[in-house]
Parts: sequence; structure tokens; C-alpha cells
Amino acid sequence: MAGASVLFVCLGNICRSPLAEGAFRAAADARGLQLGVDSAGTGGWHVGAPPDPRAQAVARAHGVDISGLRARQVTAADFELFTHVVAMDRDNLAALRRLGGASGGARLSLLLDHVPGRAGGDVADPYYGGPEGFLATWADVWAGAEGLLSGLALRP
Ligand code: 4NP
Repeated sequence: MAGASVLFVCLGNICRSPLAEGAFRAAADARGLQLGVDSAGTGGWHVGAPPDPRAQAVARAHGVDISGLRARQVTAADFELFTHVVAMDRDNLAALRRLGGASGGARLSLLLDHVPGRAGGDVADPYYGGPEGFLATWADVWAGAEGLLSGLALRP
């Protein structure tokens, strides 16, 4: 657990994965754990951009500040830099496998694999919807962060 580091990955790195990063950091802090955490996108359109204002708002409403995060694109080196690479959906998991994640050092999974009863499921992309979608995203990433932390405690 002490040496674990987690990279959360979605498509744009402005909605789901920065929320997962913020939720995971907050949940780890609450448990007194200091773990490596970052997020990235499989796409490069938003590189350098802060999280979507709707993502910032839902995080802030839950006491988590993600305004300082900036989007970046995932690279093959990330599979060596992180012990766990966690995709938000199956499309992004497939993209990570194409990038070489199947052979790298990091353990690859879907975020919802860490939530009992939801293994194999996707965190829905809220980008084209309304603010209620971001609330659902927050609930998903919070459940995923908690489940991942519990799993790491059992199997670091
Ligand atoms: P994310 O959401 O993958 O959760 O960051 C998206 C952000 C931007 C786009 C798609 C999804 N886009 O097509 O620009």
C-alpha cells in the first residue's frame, strides 16, 4: 500500500479522471494515507486545460478543490511510473491496452471493477450532458476511490 501510485485515465482528462483523482486524494487523506495519484487522458485535445467548470463545481460542492489540475495525455512511460492505471470506461481501457499497458508494469483495471456489483461497468461520460450527470460521476468516482483504497489495503 505505501508504495502504491495510481493514475486515473479518461478521454479528455477534464471531467471524469480529474474527479477520480480528487476523490481518491481526499479519501486517502481521510485515511491518513499518502499515495501517489495523478490523472491523464487518452486524447490530447484538452492538454494544459483545467478541469471542466462543471467538474470543478461538483468537486467543490463535496469539499474537494480540483481547480489546480491541468490536463495531460497518457504515455507508455506511465505504465512504468505508476503501480496502478485505472480507466474510467472500456473504450479508454482498450486505448490503454493498445498503448502497451498490457505488457507494462502497472496493473490495469476499470474504476468500477473496484465497486462491488459493478465490475466491468463504465463511468458514463458527462461531457455532453447537464450538471446532474456530474453528480452521478462524483458518486461513481467516490465509490471507486473508496473501493480501490480498500482493495489496496488487502492487496497492495
Ligand atoms: P472526460 O470527458 O473524458 O471525462 O474528460 C470528455 C471531455 C472532453 C471530450 C470528451 C469527453 N471531448 O470530446 O472533447
